Amino acid sequence: MVSPRVHLGALQLLLQLLLQLLLLSSPRVGGNEVTVPEEEAGGYTRRSRSFVIDYEKDAFLKDGQPFQMLSGSLHYFRVPRIYWRDRLRKMRKAGLNTVATYVEWSLHEPTPGRYDMTGELNLANFIQVADEEGLLVNLRVGPYICAERDMGGLPPWLLSIKPDIKLRSSDPVFQRYAKRWLDVLMPLVRPRLYGNGGPIILVQVENEYGSYPACDHAYLLWLRDEFRAHVRGAAVLYTTDGAGASYLKCGKIPGVYATVDFGAGSDVVQAFASQRKVEPRGPLVNSEYYTGWLTHWAEKEQTVATADVLRNLRWMLANNASFNFYVFMGGSNFGFTAGANFGSDFQPQLTSYDYDAPLTEAGDPTPKYFAIRDAIAEKTGRTVGTPPTAAAKLALGPVLLQRAADLQALAAGPAASAAFPRDFEQLHQAYGYVLYETRVPDNFVAKKGKAVLMASRIRDRGIVFLDQARRGVLCRGKPHRIGLTLTGVSPGQRLSVLVENQGRINYGARLNDSKGLGNVTLDGRPLRGWTMTQLPLNNATRLDELVRRATRRLQRRQHIANATEAADVLPRDPKRDVPGVYVGRFVVPPGTAARPGSVDGDVFDPYGDRDTPPLPDTFVDTTGWGKGVMFVNGFNLGRYWPSEGPQLTLYLPGYLLRPHPQHNTLVVIETDLAPEIPAMTLVDRPNLNGPLCASAAGSTANAPAGPSPSGGPVARSCC
Ligand SMILES: *[C@@H]1O[C@H](CO)[C@@H](O)[C@H](O)[C@H]1NC(C)=O
Ligand SMILES: *[C@@H]1O[C@H](CO)[C@@H](O)[C@H](O)[C@H]1NC(C)=O
Ligand SMILES: *[C@@H]1O[C@H](CO)[C@@H](O)[C@H](O)[C@H]1NC(C)=O
Ligand SMILES: *[C@@H]1O[C@H](CO)[C@@H](O)[C@H](O)[C@H]1NC(C)=O
Ligand SMILES: *[C@@H]1O[C@H](CO)[C@@H](O)[C@H](O)[C@H]1NC(C)=O
Repeated sequence: MVSPRVHLGALQLLLQLLLQLLLLSSPRVGGNEVTVPEEEAGGYTRRSRSFVIDYEKDAFLKDGQPFQMLSGSLHYFRVPRIYWRDRLRKMRKAGLNTVATYVEWSLHEPTPGRYDMTGELNLANFIQVADEEGLLVNLRVGPYICAERDMGGLPPWLLSIKPDIKLRSSDPVFQRYAKRWLDVLMPLVRPRLYGNGGPIILVQVENEYGSYPACDHAYLLWLRDEFRAHVRGAAVLYTTDGAGASYLKCGKIPGVYATVDFGAGSDVVQAFASQRKVEPRGPLVNSEYYTGWLTHWAEKEQTVATADVLRNLRWMLANNASFNFYVFMGGSNFGFTAGANFGSDFQPQLTSYDYDAPLTEAGDPTPKYFAIRDAIAEKTGRTVGTPPTAAAKLALGPVLLQRAADLQALAAGPAASAAFPRDFEQLHQAYGYVLYETRVPDNFVAKKGKAVLMASRIRDRGIVFLDQARRGVLCRGKPHRIGLTLTGVSPGQRLSVLVENQGRINYGARLNDSKGLGNVTLDGRPLRGWTMTQLPLNNATRLDELVRRATRRLQRRQHIANATEAADVLPRDPKRDVPGVYVGRFVVPPGTAARPGSVDGDVFDPYGDRDTPPLPDTFVDTTGWGKGVMFVNGFNLGRYWPSEGPQLTLYLPGYLLRPHPQHNTLVVIETDLAPEIPAMTLVDRPNLNGPLCASAAGSTANAPAGPSPSGGPVARSCC
């Protein structure tokens, strides 16, 4: 534990922050340059290689030899680039011979026709590092990937171009943009295919298409031919689907090798029997063997017991089945990248994608890792290197924050206006928030001051204000609440609804998940004349300007020792329940340096040739806050929502931190209720299993949210 040093509001903060925001922008901010990869061989010169399917020996054949794929999933876009080598080496040390990654279209083409394959999105570099670490690559291109990512990896701007687009179908608009993306991506992939001298042995076409109701065979054949034209036999094309006839019915593509996915609880013999029904010969492949599971907000952290994972693993090892652990390491849904499911309700997913995987969100080995390593060693008769150890983490204590401005100060520009509310996509805004505002009509008569506000729909969460006073929350999920009874309503009042996109649905029929506020009535009377203030929170310059301006007004308060002392010193925040921007800063102690876990018998430095020593990872404990998003040195760490649970801490990778004596800035966008003492604590261990809204609130769990008076307790109702 390192003693905290906390400073507040000095002028240096402003300059420091300006610089950091410019340098270290959020994942979304990075994609401004137009960088189309050149088609080049990436240094590969090997020849006469082949990776094919042997339908007689029921196996993959690599250079003519039977090959059992022992793969693990790690998504480059969920792990900072500086850690790729470390994580991949740990996978290799577990005995794996292949890494599987999805490719996320929406990140690489953030706006139509502007591509980014650089920096954190340098896929070519990821493939190269995997190759250097002795791993083959299983490339899951899609272009729909699910992956618990916003819109399953499809770019939300598709919904701006054509609101009624039929995604993943023969819709010519979908095909045109999908083809244009593949024509950019695949020339980068081609020289890296196994048959062309690279490490890519498998290329996945679509993703669990059998779970999508469109069942458009013409689309699948079209997509197959697009892939064939690029891959030309230099790697194996495959599909993945649930292990059941109902999934394979629409998921199987003629001429593309069909594989199945299933987890620890499935009957492995039965599951592979379903693959055999569509692929009578060839290797058995479980293309997603679940090591854990995803978790939604308001849901207990999902886990899978190691003993259960081992059972089907042993069967697959003994029977020469190829498999891909989904996931071997999950990582994080930084920024606004997390997706959502729609079961009986809308269910947004956590920022953490720890997944209870063999390697944690921070890349540390777990008992599950060692058990899998032992099971593989038992089969192969050898281990690879010495086992890795966990890396040390940093505990810095509380960082005090001060309210810098109302959220509206981050508006992207002048508000748009229209008679009726428009969707985010119609406003060409992909992520973040939109503030919808109108006025109570001048001739409106509220019966005894009461009126029922009703929205035709809410996507996904809307905080309702009358003349800036918070009146309640509209929710898409559970509880589903699209109406509120408002008291004290009078003509001319400003009615505001701050709508948050909580992540687009990534699975099932509802992928076309446009965001925003539906039409609104007051006592049945349609409300017209809306303004829409856009808050995408994706402009580092804009965020910085705000912080700079606002911080000028903050009192200079040096060396406040701790939160208790701060309570006496700091002025009360009268606007705790008004959506706002909070700013703080901190300095790491002198001499702090990362101690990476041992990977190779010696201490492996994954960070390579950096000038300054890297700093350890830490976690930001958000306990006591309401709901929002936070930025560290300008990087969007993602959404936090401790009042909903179960995730209480956000993973803060050390590479984002500035070494002593530089200042680090923490910017917190809180939309619900800031704590009386606005501090976030940097701790050395994650907590992804905190209390849940429903259980913690007991009988009041699903009570409609009423006005939440300043200074009152945090309401623990879900939504
Ligand atoms: C979204 O997709 C669903 C299912 O495919 C369809 O019923 C619905 O009409 C679509 N919505 C729009 C706006 O196109
Ligand atoms: C697995 O493959 C090995 C090597 O090719 C072979 O000797 C063995 O019989 C196979 N086992 C099964 C169950 O197919
Ligand atoms: C809102 O109402 C207008 C006028 O009736 C209509 O044109 C529009 O489609 C409606 N919007 C939604 C989201 O239902
Ligand atoms: C970001 O904000 C700055 C300052 O407000 C503005 O000049 C710039 O146009 C914005 N950039 C984008 C991409 O919106
Ligand atoms: C907080 O700081 C004050 C002043 O330095 C000190 O007296 C107090 O013991 C500290 N409290 C904690 C919990 O560290």
